[in-house]
Amino acid sequence: MNFLIRKFDINSQEYKISLEIRDEVFRRPQGLSIYDDDLSDDFESEMYAGFLGERMISMAFLKPTENNEGIVRAVIVLDQFRGLGYGKLMMDKIHESAKKLGIKKLSLKGRTTAKGFYESLGYETTSQVFDYKGIPHVMMEKEVT
Ligand SMILES: CC(C)(COP(=O)(O)OP(=O)(O)OC[C@H]1O[C@@H](n2cnc3c(N)ncnc32)[C@H](O)[C@@H]1OP(=O)(O)O)[C@@H](O)C(=O)NCCC(=O)NCCS
Repeated sequence: MNFLIRKFDINSQEYKISLEIRDEVFRRPQGLSIYDDDLSDDFESEMYAGFLGERMISMAFLKPTENNEGIVRAVIVLDQFRGLGYGKLMMDKIHESAKKLGIKKLSLKGRTTAKGFYESLGYETTSQVFDYKGIPHVMMEKEVT
């Protein structure tokens, strides 16, 4: 089945589905709810979703910030579709969009379990491990070339 990446906006049905997926993957296992988060960064982010047929199976967000920098957020591939290259395709899209926006440096707050994924894409760790909502994270960065 064809894998297609589409951009979506905050008023779309895709956004509602993406919130459900973020809730399921990032918050519910911690006994938290995405709907208690401050979601204001979403309004300032380019939001991309990956589809297999009509099913959304992945997402990745890019928030441009000051000084030609950007933050990568909400990178998820649904459990049963991991390890098949879709995460890399989502990040390729983020890197292509960052280039178009003139972004020179990307940063992200990554789960330590995803560190190897980001390293395979050229990100370097720039912080000690810290706790975020009960999960160990590190800050990571990559120059956009
Ligand atoms: C992290 C995540 C997005 C990776 O997506 P994916 O589709 O499984 O990754 P891919 O199949 O595209 O893998 C790309 C490369 O990263 C490597 N990789 C993927 N996940 C990895 C991991 N957890 N640790 C180490 N390497 C990993 C793959 O082996 C592959 O390497 P290669 O290019 O040398 O073959 C996915 O596992 C996920 O959604 N996890 C849960 C949510 C999460 O933790 N998101 C990140 C939060 S910051």
